[in-house]
Parts: sequence; C-alpha cells; structure tokens
Amino acid sequence: MSDSAFMPGFQSLDTELSDHDLPVEGEIPAWLSGTLLRNGPGKFDGNGTRLRHWFDGLAMIRKYEFDEGGVTYSNRFLRTGAYDDAMAGRPTGQFATDKSGIGKVLGWLKRLGPPEPTDNANVHVARLDGEYVAQTEVPRWVGFDDDLDTSGPFAFDDSLDMDMITAHLVADPTGGHVGHGLSFGRTHEYVFFEIPPDSRRREEITSIPTDSPAYIHSIGVTEDRLVLVETPLRIDILRALSPFTEGFFELLDWKEDLDTRFVVIDRASGETVVDRTVDPFFTFHVINAYDDGDEIVLDLAAFEDATIVDALSLETLAEEGFDAAPPGRLVRFRIGSDGNISRRRLYDGGIELPTVRADRQTREYRYAYGQATDREGANGLVKVDTERETAAEFWQRDLYIEEPWMVPRPDGEAADDGVVLAPALDVDAEQSVLLVLDAGTLDELARAPVPHHNPFGFHGRFFPQ
Ligand SMILES: [Fe+2]
Repeated sequence: MSDSAFMPGFQSLDTELSDHDLPVEGEIPAWLSGTLLRNGPGKFDGNGTRLRHWFDGLAMIRKYEFDEGGVTYSNRFLRTGAYDDAMAGRPTGQFATDKSGIGKVLGWLKRLGPPEPTDNANVHVARLDGEYVAQTEVPRWVGFDDDLDTSGPFAFDDSLDMDMITAHLVADPTGGHVGHGLSFGRTHEYVFFEIPPDSRRREEITSIPTDSPAYIHSIGVTEDRLVLVETPLRIDILRALSPFTEGFFELLDWKEDLDTRFVVIDRASGETVVDRTVDPFFTFHVINAYDDGDEIVLDLAAFEDATIVDALSLETLAEEGFDAAPPGRLVRFRIGSDGNISRRRLYDGGIELPTVRADRQTREYRYAYGQATDREGANGLVKVDTERETAAEFWQRDLYIEEPWMVPRPDGEAADDGVVLAPALDVDAEQSVLLVLDAGTLDELARAPVPHHNPFGFHGRFFPQ
C-alpha cells in the first residue's frame, strides 16, 4: 500500500459520546457482561501544528459496555494539562514532538527544579485500589471514573521515585500487579515492584544498576520470577542537554554492537538467578511468561532491530503507510536455570499488540491473540495456538483491527471458549466498528458500528461485571 488509505486511523476525532446505544449486526452472546476500556490517541493536531508521532496523540478513553446482548459506547478525552494545551492550540507531545517529555531528565541534569513531563496518559488502563487509571510511561498517571470523567492525577501511596514507569503493568491473576521503571541519577537503575491487591502501594522487589539504560516497554512476569529483556535500544540521557533535542524519541539509540540481555529475578527474594545475552532483537511487547519446572517460557513479539520506532512516526506513516513497518515475530524463548537459552518462532506471520486471556497471564497458556500485521489492504486478527504452533486468522479488506481481547465464557472449559473483542476501522467507509468474534473459530458473531471513525488506539482491558 503506497498511499495512506488507512489515514483515518491517524486523523483527529472531536466528537465525544456518552452511553450511546450501538446498533448490533449479528448476535452478542447474552452472557457477555462487563466493560472493555481502551486507551489511545484521539487528536493529533491543533492550531496548524501536527504532532510528529502516533505515540504522541492526545489521550482518549473508549468504553464499550456489554449487557444482555447489547452494547453502549462512550468516548472522552482525559481532562489534563495536555488536553488544555491542545484545546488552546498548543498540542504537546512526549515521545517525539517536544521537549516537555524529557523535562524531568533535563531538570535532574541541570537541577532546575520540579520535573514536568506531560500528563498525556494515552497508553494503557488499569484498575488500582478501586480506581480506573490511565497510564503513560512517565509517572503522571491519571484517574477516571465509570463515566469516563477525569478525577485527577493518580498518586501512589509510597516513596518509590522513578523517572520512567511502565504502562504495561502485568495484572497477576491473584489480584496484584507487577511493574518496572527507570530511575536516573548518579547511577541509573531499573526498578521492579509489586502492587498488592486493593492497594496503591508499590513494594520494591529489587533494583538493578545500569550505565546505559534501555528503553523497556514491558517485562516478563511468571508466578515466581521476572524477566528483564534489555535490548540494544538505549536512552542517551546526556543528549537531553542538547538544545537541538526535540523529544524523548531523539534520545533513543540502537547500539549495533550490543546483544539483547535477559535478567531473571526471583520475585520473592529479589535475587538475580540468570543474567545472559542472546543475539540482538528489539521488542515492545512480552506476550506472556510462565514457569515450566526449572525453565522459564517467555513469548514476545520480536523485531530484528528498532526501525519499527521510526516507522510509526506520523510523517513516515503518511508517506509510506505501514509498508515501512517491519513485522514483529512471535518468538518463544526457553530460559534454563543454568542460563541455557533456546529460541523458536511459533508463527510465521507478523504479530503485534498481542494479548492472552487474563486468567492465564503469568501462567501456562495456549492461545495468543494479536494483530496480523503483514497483510495487504488491511491488517488482520490472528489467533496462535502456541502448543500446536498453528494459527487461525480473521481478515477483511479495508478493515484495520486494533488490539484484541479474549473474554472467556463463564463455566467454559476449553482454553478458547469465549469471545474475542476488537475495535476495528473500516478505512474505506471511514467508520469504526466493534467486532465480536468466536474465540474458538474466529467466526464473526456480531459487529457494532460506532458513529464515527476512531483513530488507532493502543491498549485496553476488559473488566467483568
Ligand atoms: Fe504497549
């Protein structure tokens, strides 16, 4: 695809709707009860200024609420400082567009006073201590309520100080969350922490010093251990001092001579139990990880290098579409307690925005769902059977599918008994729909058209009733 047929996915949306009844074509199972909340950009420009990177779009939450076969839809921008600036015609980015995202680094280096990364929390959502939280990769998370009204900055009840923090908290099926962050200082440190159930207190597991911190978007978490995947994509902190540096994006450096390193940490003791390198690759997303006897199984979407980061700038997307974006590959690593590491590709196609059902995260699992990314005329939705190493796909011309989420049927026994929910954008009709697919067969059960186009979002979660 040479022109940008999918560009509605990167066009601003101004409309906000509340509890709008969606028409349903087909049949949504009556057992499906709960809320799919998703985060992602809603606006890319203001006052003639266009943001430079997809990752910089203004945070908008979408809510799909299911009850007795019906679905209602709401969408709202988070009301933040970034929102006020955008509405005043001063859109500010964090990843690529301006210096505000590196303000904290600059502040630390120059000791100029309080840090000011933007509060544009557009990456993910979680539920912590009974509150919905919109998350970004700096510690300026934002709370919101059932009606998508912004309640204000989300504050942790602890004294852990980090300059960057993962938006990809791993929700442990036991109710807690596991995360990581980066602390810049005389020595930089990766920080690993757990948030107990019904708490907003981060308890530090351990910290690991580093001279050259990597950009780490997610980590592997099993029931007993953590895996840090440190790729050669490093953050050049001193470059933040340059007057020509325009955003966090420009601090990132792919170090050709480095390998990718796995550090395995025991969750209970905080001790490092394996520290080994493998041939270099880049990843945003660990899919899942679990303990298998002495071994750890770690599945992720791997790229040969970090060209994907440039490929997702709005300028490159406008010129080349997704053609410049290399495919991520579903790779399974087995990490032995003796440090022996094997690598195997489980699916030949491209995959991104992968998810597994919530009750299998950190545990042995069978099916991963994700975007099938290397397709012409649209992406698809893929289900990979990691046991048999087979895949099934859903594909429709002009339909670009966002991150899928599998919801198991109550009392269902098979690992794929349930539905897969996925918002999608018909780039020809310039209209978004919510797809409800059979999680076993990927047959379409229903689709619910949304009365506008939705820019492509990032991540979400389903919260059962
Ligand atoms: Fe992500």
